[in-house]
Parts: sequence; structure tokens; C-alpha cells
Amino acid sequence: MSKTKVLLVGAAGETGGSIANGLLEDGSFEVIALVRPISVHKPAILRLQERGIAIRKCDLKAPEEQLIEALAGIEVVISCVGPAEQQDQIPLAKAAKAVGVKRFIPCGFITVAPPGGVMWLRDEKEIVYNQIRQLWLPYTLVDVGWWYQLSYPRLPSGRVDYAMTSGNDEIIGNGDVTTALTDLRDIGHYMALIIKDPRTLNKKVLAYNLVSTQNEIYNLMEQLSEEKIDRNYVPEETICSRVLAARQASETYPFDPIKFIPRYLAEYQYSWGVRGDNNPEYAKYLGYYLTPELYPEYKPTDYREYLESVIRGTAKGVYTDRVISRKHQRHFPRTESSDSLYTRIFPRTESSDSLMSR
Ligand SMILES: NC(=O)c1ccc[n+]([C@@H]2O[C@H](COP(=O)([O-])OP(=O)(O)OC[C@H]3O[C@@H](n4cnc5c(N)ncnc54)[C@H](OP(=O)(O)O)[C@@H]3O)[C@@H](O)[C@H]2O)c1
Repeated sequence: MSKTKVLLVGAAGETGGSIANGLLEDGSFEVIALVRPISVHKPAILRLQERGIAIRKCDLKAPEEQLIEALAGIEVVISCVGPAEQQDQIPLAKAAKAVGVKRFIPCGFITVAPPGGVMWLRDEKEIVYNQIRQLWLPYTLVDVGWWYQLSYPRLPSGRVDYAMTSGNDEIIGNGDVTTALTDLRDIGHYMALIIKDPRTLNKKVLAYNLVSTQNEIYNLMEQLSEEKIDRNYVPEETICSRVLAARQASETYPFDPIKFIPRYLAEYQYSWGVRGDNNPEYAKYLGYYLTPELYPEYKPTDYREYLESVIRGTAKGVYTDRVISRKHQRHFPRTESSDSLYTRIFPRTESSDSLMSR
């Protein structure tokens, strides 16, 4: 049987790397990476080529005819671009419609949250989803909860610092809000199942491994490490104030990374930690399918075993190439006029009281 041809955008990134791996391990896909010309010599791309992945050189910002050329013969597109690049997927979606792609998976892969003013990053993605629906392009939307890799706190001894991107030392509210978690490495395996599955066509899927609370995660880390971790409880009101301050600071130029990174980090905490959006029950209410129900036979990576590997010193850190990515994040195509349009579509709320009354 011939293999399904999948074009993967962002294969050198964290999510894209997991998906490349998952599709290759599955064996039923021919994986082709769309790589922008400046990145073809990246070590991650060279390693993928050694594993049999072909490269098509093209930038998402290239003219439509080049995007159409890059999509020749492609059946499925999976896109995993960074937060600042969400709307750059729209020309690719148009080109995919023009060549008759059978399924387009735009860059979701975040926590569950409702559209319309809760999270800027969610709304950036929803703008792309709406374009896809307007094109009548076959799609699947996939979210994944929190990565295991970003979920656990620092240990006082510093022995897990090697695998961390931040101190992660805040417990929101009383720490009992449940949140869905997934190992980054499982995302690719889930994608192999999802894109072969006719049930997920034109649907939303939440791929996740387990549900936990911050208190449970701290307890498990303390038990496995035999270290006592300080519990820094941050009141919900403080998170709401941070969200408002970050939104106000990003008012005139929301796409300046110095401003939008604090904004989307604060909004993440607000969404999963205060509102409690990132859980399967709410996902079902929003119309998602859940992977444990779709694929009960799939055995995801065990969270305890993952944390044991972190403490042992054998886990792999994420974003070890971030200096390169930060440089790329400075290329923003947007104008002030499109920013003000965005502000009109998603007006900000006026006070933290309105954030608390949900
Ligand atoms: N659920 C979670 O806990 C969690 C955590 C982090 C991120 N995420 C989500 O996952 C998504 C992917 O993030 P990530 O951190 O995996 O991404 P990443 O590591 O930053 O990688 C982004 C990839 O997109 C490629 N790209 C960007 N602009 C491009 C263009 N114009 N043309 C072609 N390729 C382009 C980059 O290519 P180059 O190699 O050329 O730079 C890079 O390979 C994000 O949208 C974010 O919302 C979720």
C-alpha cells in the first residue's frame, strides 16, 4: 500500500520534531518537511534527512505559486509554527485548498481554552481556523494540554534545572485546579493515529495523557526527589491583575515579543489556572473528541516515569536552540492598522473584576 504523503511545517521545532518522529515510527507516511531556505542547514533538519525525510525549500511568506509548488502531491499538511507566526499559515491554507489537500492540520497544540478574548494566542489560532472553514478546506484541530516538559517545579538542589526553561515556582490559587498534561514526545504518536482516523475529519481533538493538579505534581516531585519544595501560592486576583497589565502594555503593538510574551504567559495562567479551561470535561463541552476515548489501546508515556527521568538527569530539555528562534521571532509582518483591527475584534475587558466573574 502506498504511503500517505504528509507535508510537515516546523519540523525543526519542538512540536514538529515530535510529529516527525511519531509519523516515521508509525511507518505509514511519507514525510516531507517544508523548510525555509535560511534553515535548511540546521542540524535538526540534517538529522531528519538522514532518517529519510525529504525537504521542500519554501517560506510560509513565499508567493502563492511557490506554496502551491511545495504542496505538489501532498495529501495531508501539518503545521507547527511558533506563537508569532500563526497568521502566516493562511496563505498555505489557501494554496492547500487550490491543490486539493485532503486534510489540513493548522498549528493548534496548546491548552484548551474558549475563543474570544481569554487568550491572545488562542484567538490568533482561531483566526486561522476561521479562514480554513471559510475555504471549506478539510481539517482537524488538535490541542494537547500542557507538555510534561513544562509542568513541574524546580527542586531546591537545582538538579533538575538542566531540563527546565523557567523556575516554574508559582502555584495558582489553592493549587487544586485540574489540568490536562501530555508528554511532548507523545504528540507525534497521537498525530499518526489522528490523521489516519476518518472520525477526526473536520473535528477538534484533545490529545492528552492524564489530568493532574499543581498540588499533586508538587507532591509527586517531593516524593520522588525526597526534597521539600517551597509552595508559592499566587492569588487568582494577582493573575488577573497581571493579565490586565500585560494586555495594557501590549495595546499599541501586541506583536512586539517583549510585550506579547508576558501577555500570553499571563493569559495561559489565567485560562488553565484560574478559569480551569484545560481539562477534558470542558473540552468535551466545547466539542472536542478525547484521545483516551478514541484510542483506548494507546499507552502514553507515564508521568511518574517521566519525572523520575528528570530527577535522574536523563530527560531531554526543550528549546535548547532558543537563541536562534528568538532571532527569528523578531520578523513581524504586521502593521499598526491590522493591530487596531484585531483590537476591535477582541476588545479587552476593563477591570480584573470582569475577569473574575466568569
Ligand atoms: N502545549 C504546550 O505546553 C505548548 C508548549 C509550547 C508551545 N506550544 C504550541 O506549540 C506550537 C508550536 O510551538 P513550538 O514551540 O513547538 O515551535 P518552535 O519550536 O518554535 O518551532 C517553530 C517552527 O516553525 C517554523 N517556522 C516559523 N516560521 C516559518 C516560516 N515563515 N516558514 C516556514 N517555517 C516556519 C520554524 O522554522 P525554523 O526552523 O526555520 O525557525 C520552526 O521550525 C506553538 O504555536 C505553541 O502554541 C504548546
